[in-house]
This record gives sequence, C-alpha cells and structure tokens, in this order.
Amino acid sequence: MTTLADFAAALPKAELHLHIEGSLEPELMFALAQRNGIALSYASVEEIRAAYNFTRLQDFLDIYYQGADVLRTRQDFHDLAFAYAERAAADSVRHAEIFFDPQTHTDRGIDFGVVIEGLHSGLEAARERFGITSRLILCILRHLDEAAAFATLEAAKPWLNRIAGIGLDSSEVGHPPEKFARVFAAAADLGLKRVAHAGEEGPPDYVWQALDLLAIDRLDHGNRALEDPVLTARLAREAMTLTVCPLSNLKLCVVESMDAHPMRRMLDAGLRATVNSDDPAYFGGYVNDNYRALAASGQLTQADFVTLARNSFLGAFLPDETIAAHLAELDATVARLNGDVSA
Ligand code: HPA
Ligand code: ZN
Repeated sequence: MTTLADFAAALPKAELHLHIEGSLEPELMFALAQRNGIALSYASVEEIRAAYNFTRLQDFLDIYYQGADVLRTRQDFHDLAFAYAERAAADSVRHAEIFFDPQTHTDRGIDFGVVIEGLHSGLEAARERFGITSRLILCILRHLDEAAAFATLEAAKPWLNRIAGIGLDSSEVGHPPEKFARVFAAAADLGLKRVAHAGEEGPPDYVWQALDLLAIDRLDHGNRALEDPVLTARLAREAMTLTVCPLSNLKLCVVESMDAHPMRRMLDAGLRATVNSDDPAYFGGYVNDNYRALAASGQLTQADFVTLARNSFLGAFLPDETIAAHLAELDATVARLNGDVSA
C-alpha cells in the first residue's frame, strides 16, 4: 500500500520558492572552498551542520550570507544550480522558479554576468539531462537601500531575457515592502513578474503593502496573513499563490511544531497554497521532505496533496498550455497511483 507520504512524493510538482544560495550543501561548500583556496571557519561538514540551529530568520541569514562566500566563479554557480536541479528532479519536480540574490555576490566583487551565466548554464545542463525546466527570479535584499536595489536592476538589464521576475527577501521586520515600491514599479515597466517575501515574520500590514504597493503576482510565505480575516479573504478571492515553506517555518520558529503548521487552515480558507523548500541545505530537506513532513503531521488528505501539487503549477510563471500539460500529467499520475486502470 502506498503511504500518504509516498503518494505526495510521487506527484509531479513545481517548486516556486527556492533560494539557490540556500541549496548550497556543506559538502559542496567545502569542495568550492578548496577549489577557490578559501579557508572556512568550520573544520568539517558535521561542524557546519551543527551550526544550523536557528531561533529566528536573522540567525539563519547571518550564516547563509557567510556560506555564499565560497561562490566565486561561473563554474561554481553552474555546479550549484545543477546540483539543486538534479536533486529537485529526483523529487518529481518538473519545473522550478529559482531565486538568486545578486547583491550577495556583486557586493563581494563578483560580476553580475558571472552569477547569471553560471546559474543559467547549470540549469540548462540539468534541463537537458533530467528534463526539469526553470526560471530565475532576481531577489532584492531588503536590508539594503533603495539606491542599491535600483543599481541591481540596472545591472540586470543586459540579462533580462534570462530573468522572469523580481523578488524581495532578507531581513523582513523593519524593512517593509513600501521601501521598494518605486523599484518594483520600474521592474514592472521592464516586464518582470513581481513576488515578495511578506508575512513570514512581518505583520499582515506588510502583506497588504506587497499587494497594494508592489503589485505582487505571488506571495512568498504569507503565514501571518491568516491573522487578518479581511486580508485572508482578499488573497483567496484574488487566487493569490502563497509559496509556503513548512520545514523553513519550523527551523526558523515561525511555527512551534509541524502539527501546528497553518497549512490546513490555509487550504480551508481557500488560499492557493503551495509547498516549497526555501533553503533546503539549511532547513533539513528538499521539497519532498516538506511534503512528507506535512503528511506526517496528519493534517492533510490525499486530495489535499493533489491540490497542493496542482496549485504549484497554477502559480507558476508559465504559458497556459504548458501549465495544462503539467496538470494533465498530474491527473494521469493520480489515476495511476489510485490504481485506476481505465485512466
Ligand atoms: N526569508 C527571507 N530571506 C531569505 C529567506 C527567507 O526565508 N531565505 C533566503 N533569504
Ligand atoms: Zn525564502
């Protein structure tokens, strides 16, 4: 008999909330440090993993930015992207929309072109090898200022054909979406989709701002929107996709336990929620580990997992016909898993 977790893991899915720098596994961190002649402050892979104990977002961010320092060359970014896509494909991910943080690299003197060319070539190699497709989303670091964000958008201009959208990440509280309203308007004029982290640690007001001032097409996290029934109703009415990250929520103490995770409440409220891994190397697992953790919490049914996988494709920045093809594969997979031989 197929367990609920195995059922969820087997479903074709998209991943819509994944920071490529957060997929840097300690093993690759060590290998790149060695290749680039960098001394790490950790003696072993085990020591790195032992340091991944967080009580809030900022604890994680401090370690995450430090880890990214081993990424120096085009080949490094290629290897990072290829490794993620290979791992995601093994979790039945058919399509991934991937964040990258250019400022984390350009502020260290790494050229924007090195970052994007490396990521792009790694993702292309993975598409040829594993069939997984992807898009890149440029994330603005919200703890830096508006001028720095505009400079990043300017640096991205030669590469816009490789960038699907703009996002907003890093330290949320104290850096509300309104800080970047003009940057997002300029990004919209360039034809970029818009997404933002909001309501992870920040209050519901930040989600309102993301909707009204950034004109987002998708909401990253959004957990705290549930504190505001009017906001929740609006998100449901507008079919706004929420990219929810259960293991991240657990590791960053956004939720007390997986049993207390709001996914059940999100689905009951009619929200278009999806399941994602956020920073899998830091938070204890890839997308199927997140599906499995929710399955173990006992709050969801098979039908809920089909809804979650369906939502992941519906929320993707893909042409309608491509989404339809993914949904057809999902339906066929569900029929096969249910032993429906007539399908
Ligand atoms: N929140 C904010 N910034 C981030 C995250 C996150 O979950 N992951 C990487 N950067
Ligand atoms: Zn995130």
